[in-house]
Amino acid sequence: MPKMHIAPGAPPEAAADLLVLPIYQGPQGGPGVKEASGALEADLVAVFAENGLKGKLGESLSVPTMGKLPARTILLVGVGPKGEASASTLRRAAGRAAGVASRFSSVATTLPQAAGRADESVQATVEGFLLGSYRIDRYKGDNGDDAPVQAVENITVLSSPRWDGAAVRQAVRRAEVLSESVAWARDLVNTPAGDATPDFLAREAQRMAEETGLEVTIWSEQDLKDGGFGGVIGVGQGSENPPRLIELTYSGGRASDPPIALTGKGVTFDSGGLSIKDAKGMEWMKADMGGAAAMLAAMRAIALLKPRINVIAAIPSSENLPSGSAIRPGDVLSHRGGKTSEVLNTDAEGRLILADSLAYLSEKNPRVIIDAATLTGACMIALGEDIWGVMGNDRTLIRDILAAGDAVGEPGWELPLWRRYREKIDSSVADVKNIGDRWGGAITAALFLAEFVGDTPWVHLDVAGTAYWEKAGDYWPKGATGSPARAVVRYVLDQAEKDGRSRARSRAASRSVPKSGARTGAK
Ligand code: BES
Ligand code: ZN
Ligand code: MN
Repeated sequence: MPKMHIAPGAPPEAAADLLVLPIYQGPQGGPGVKEASGALEADLVAVFAENGLKGKLGESLSVPTMGKLPARTILLVGVGPKGEASASTLRRAAGRAAGVASRFSSVATTLPQAAGRADESVQATVEGFLLGSYRIDRYKGDNGDDAPVQAVENITVLSSPRWDGAAVRQAVRRAEVLSESVAWARDLVNTPAGDATPDFLAREAQRMAEETGLEVTIWSEQDLKDGGFGGVIGVGQGSENPPRLIELTYSGGRASDPPIALTGKGVTFDSGGLSIKDAKGMEWMKADMGGAAAMLAAMRAIALLKPRINVIAAIPSSENLPSGSAIRPGDVLSHRGGKTSEVLNTDAEGRLILADSLAYLSEKNPRVIIDAATLTGACMIALGEDIWGVMGNDRTLIRDILAAGDAVGEPGWELPLWRRYREKIDSSVADVKNIGDRWGGAITAALFLAEFVGDTPWVHLDVAGTAYWEKAGDYWPKGATGSPARAVVRYVLDQAEKDGRSRARSRAASRSVPKSGARTGAK
């Protein structure tokens, strides 16, 4: 990861190889463009326009400075209409710029001055640069055109005198922690399933926990059998690579505060099992642990950012392969807590492992449970690759997780947890069956999960479309995206902040009334 700096100073003097400046749609020069034009003795907006560019988000133009500025090159990047400039558009523009910036060792930019609140804009811009610099090159040889290029070593955010220095430094730190965590999640997802087994995932989580100070317990196959995790065992029983459950605890709140509980689908490879997928359907199924990776990354970021709140995670991981020992269509599994499921399609396996982790987490009386899973093709058909599906049993939780997603540029959209479809998954032999009919597949999958959370407020994120992409995005290369890790962290930080505000309010209320007539339970 490059080193981050915050420095005052006018763009023309910025001592970096590359100077990245925003252009609004029009085109119209953003912060620093006028000053740089002056030093260059050329109208940069006119140069941009002459190249047929309008300032749309994602457009960019490199302009050599011919020795007139310390920077060798100016990169003009389109950020879209001035009135719509936001943290999300800055993240995307910075991600695009990062692609070009990889040829330079130091970069300076005024991008965060182009929109909204300084802390949000700085965080988004830095995230865009860092996330956009991510590459998966561990499996490439040293020679050839694809060999890794020189990495950016220094990034300088050129600050405005109006900014609150402490808030901006904290924003940079948040962006660094989140970007490193997301890069780790992407590495886990992009790692071929032959290497990334359930035990590999568990060892990676253990190493992360030791580095960040999280408590960690790895459940072995025997532990899972003894604990009644029939779904995790059943899905994994066709593979030579035994299943695991990764349990992580972050204690940032008071011991008596109920935790936020996280889980994610950790199917390290989904062949479909005996209900086998075709070759095309299997191509990307190393990414079927994207939900698990995002939750691990969220725990890492939480451990480093240290909000005053408790968070636990229980992440199940199995490999879904066909073999002489695999589960068969028609088999019945007994889940944690005792509910049974009839497996009519071994390719509907994610819900089977999550059933166990959801039941296990609900035993801990958490304040909420959030799960993320690459669960259904049906959700992808409904919402495409940009948007995850959201289903749950609690309005406030659904509202808050959607807001968190919107705030970090990882949007979700609610689908109904339509109780009348529950009968689609009635089983004649068990408590529930693992498939419905052809229609409403994302919903019947969520209804299956709902069976295992009891009354606990719970929300399910179906990230089948968003966890990996078959093409590059604005700030990720083809493959893993790391979504929805940043949304989950944002939700946790928001809740911790809300808790802090209500603690402060009740302290103030108890000071303002005399002891004898003390009011309790101030709102
Ligand atoms: N992992 C898949 C869902 C998936 C499909 C994720 C495509 C990403 C891209 C899941 O385990 C699965 O196979 N779901 C089936 C369920 C069906 C058998 C009820 C599906 O969606 O087709
Ligand atoms: Zn799957
Ligand atoms: Mn499947």
